Amino acid sequence: MREKIVAGNWKMNMDFPDGLDLAKNIISGLRAKPADHTVIVAPPFIHLSSLHQLLRFSDPKVLLAAQNCHQEDAGAYTGEVSAEMLQTTGVEYVIIGHSERRQYFGEDNTIVQAKVKAALKAGLKVIFCCGEPLEVREKQQQDEYVYAQLKTSIFTLHADELKNIVIAYEPIWAIGTEKTASPEQAQEMHAFIRNSLTHQFGEDHSSNISILYGGSVKPGNAKELFAQPDVDGGLVGGASLKAADFVAIVHSL
Ligand code: PGA
Repeated sequence: MREKIVAGNWKMNMDFPDGLDLAKNIISGLRAKPADHTVIVAPPFIHLSSLHQLLRFSDPKVLLAAQNCHQEDAGAYTGEVSAEMLQTTGVEYVIIGHSERRQYFGEDNTIVQAKVKAALKAGLKVIFCCGEPLEVREKQQQDEYVYAQLKTSIFTLHADELKNIVIAYEPIWAIGTEKTASPEQAQEMHAFIRNSLTHQFGEDHSSNISILYGGSVKPGNAKELFAQPDVDGGLVGGASLKAADFVAIVHSL
């Protein structure tokens, strides 16, 4: 059985006190009505250590993800944070390959691949993001585009590393735009991703990988998206910044 997951990507939002409040409110929302799947929050780096102290004895459990890591172990990379540093801070997951990192920080498939390897080596689990821009979708070339992203970063792994990979399909035209993919569009791409993984690694492995949908997930559309057979949860941006909305999305799974 594959894991069902809802993860909140806070992006560059929430100052420190607001971040603590948000985490506390998520915990109390989930305490009032527990969910039986994995809940993850990905705050900015500077919150991670304190949130780890807050969350490590939390009941129900909320796990921590970082939004990025550097591909090198250590060294003269001013302003960067390594996967190893994250791991020793109590972080369990790291988001890699988010379209905003690819678009604004020049992270191409080669860098993304190096980051995936560094994260796995440090013992982190990876939430690997893929997804096509609007012009690619308009030309109906989304399958080829996403396949190329998977090929360079995920297909180079050993099959036994896949247990530490979660895939998030996030069509760029749906991120922060209110234009959610329809449940059918999401299912179509998730099935394509799973079939590609089956082809590469075999069904025993592909059937166990969680594939999350991301892109304007809201309390009002989460249930329909999560009802699709190959949608195993969501990676939520904007709506993860309000505890009540995030908790409602968690309960839609
Ligand atoms: P959104 O962001 O939910 O605000 O569209 C999703 C994401 O970028 O992970």
